[in-house]
Amino acid sequence: MATVDTAHSTAPTLRVAPSILAADFGSLAAAVDGITPGTDWLHVDVMDGHFVPNLTIGPPVVASLRAHSNLFFDTHLMITDPARYLEPFRDAGADGCTVHVEVGETAALIAQMRDLGLRVGLAANPDTPFEALEPFLEMIDLVLCMTIFPGFGGQTFMAEVLPKIAQVRTAALTAGLTLDIEVDGGIDERTVVDVTRAGANVFVAGSAVFNREDPLGAVGGILRAATDERAGMAP
Ligand code: DX5
Ligand code: ZN
Repeated sequence: MATVDTAHSTAPTLRVAPSILAADFGSLAAAVDGITPGTDWLHVDVMDGHFVPNLTIGPPVVASLRAHSNLFFDTHLMITDPARYLEPFRDAGADGCTVHVEVGETAALIAQMRDLGLRVGLAANPDTPFEALEPFLEMIDLVLCMTIFPGFGGQTFMAEVLPKIAQVRTAALTAGLTLDIEVDGGIDERTVVDVTRAGANVFVAGSAVFNREDPLGAVGGILRAATDERAGMAP
């Protein structure tokens, strides 16, 4: 459950969650090793060919990576029927799962994730309003604001999502919730500045990490840009 931040002073930790969707699937372990010194989270994109028009990975791949890595597996379920797959992903080694609010049955899914001992995330597509997330903010650990329409990496960041990120941040502060606010889609050293200013603190980055010559350096560059931006923000 989102914890109450009585001090109101500790801003949520800034972190980059490299998305393995952009990595070489023939050498996933090596790709993960490459970025591990730079972060403690790995973003794992699960697609079912139904909620989004693409297919990616399932529990067996997560289990193989789990045997290889101690990173926090931030598992983004872009699937129509998460209830059926939450337990297999937990058993495979997912640490946190994020379901989309658009699939419905949200309160039941949150309860199921909690019962399974998963960290609980709730995602919203770019055109899904803040109001769809609002009733659940006190029950979850992470809000994922998609800054692209999900399904594929390498798309262009959608700045029109920035006001929704700010709405989530304001609501979390007002209610005294320590809530991770994650963004996913088109995040790089430049766009991370805007989402940090809006209130995000977890930055998923696929292309801007794994399509670079130096993925570890790219993780550091994104985190540095966010840290610099936050340092200049009013407390
Ligand atoms: C897309 C996935 C993203 C994707 C982001 O639906 O949810 O995590 O990997 O890729 P980039 O960072 O390339 O936009
Ligand atoms: Zn994702």
